Amino acid sequence: MKVSVKVPATSANIGPGFDCLGLALPIYNTITIEETVLPGTGIEINMMSEEEAIDEMAFDTIPKDENNIVYKAVELLYNSIGQEPSELKINIQSQIPITRGLGSSASVVVGGLLAANRLLGSPADEAALLAIATEVEGHPDNVAPAILGGFVLSNKEEDGTVSYCKLNWPEEWDITVCIPDFELATSIARSVLPEQVPMQDAIFNATHLAMLVQAVNTKDEKLMKLALKDRIHQPYREKLVPGMKEIIDAFKHEEGVLGCVLSGAGPSLLIISHKYDVDTISSKVREIWEGQNIKVDIRTLSVEEQGAIVF
Ligand code: HSE
Repeated sequence: MKVSVKVPATSANIGPGFDCLGLALPIYNTITIEETVLPGTGIEINMMSEEEAIDEMAFDTIPKDENNIVYKAVELLYNSIGQEPSELKINIQSQIPITRGLGSSASVVVGGLLAANRLLGSPADEAALLAIATEVEGHPDNVAPAILGGFVLSNKEEDGTVSYCKLNWPEEWDITVCIPDFELATSIARSVLPEQVPMQDAIFNATHLAMLVQAVNTKDEKLMKLALKDRIHQPYREKLVPGMKEIIDAFKHEEGVLGCVLSGAGPSLLIISHKYDVDTISSKVREIWEGQNIKVDIRTLSVEEQGAIVF
């Protein structure tokens, strides 16, 4: 038996929503799990990319054995019903750029879990799948929109369950994703964060996250422009993303550009605009990054409302 799952890319944080806000984007990975019939063949993991050669190099650094995160997620699911996975062939067809802050790891974790769940006769419900995927990823902000689609606010509760609510992203707000040609591992981007933040910064983020939710619910562009700020992860990560500060500053006073934020742990940037020429966004970003010899792939996308699909 063979099951495939198509999973969207995601962008997490969206300014003040560190580790709790994320949205799905129409770029996809397809994860297929096949039960092999021959006993003793173990676990086989293959990855294929439709992206450029640079991702081929990134692929080589990804474990293809029991240390692979897809395998870990699948193993947790099997263990939750008292079984051990064996004789599985896992194929990952990837369109989501790796280590760019677009949820590629969350997508394969979600894809692996949902496929294995179907193979096992669907013992886990949505809540269990969200909890396992969050346990593997450490935080729910990418896995929640990868499973559910749309724009999602989520929280990992003390007992490991994940609570969430979906928000309606205003269709008229454009999202321009700027993907530079260098990698930034999430582990490195998290290692520069402090264990504690100043009280004033915590208050700043809590206030701005509340403003963001209100802005989205009421389609209030002015409020969104005020809200799209962060003090608990972006300032620390700026040094890892050359050009980031210049790009954010370049749009600060542009009416129609509601904000420029780090996508997930970076290095991609997300620029949110309303009735603003997206070609102008593109050329400004290119000018800054290409001036620093950084190639960039720029795509204006809408939120993918459909989450992972099992087929
Ligand atoms: N919220 C996470 C972070 C997303 O910014 O580190 C990346 O996994």
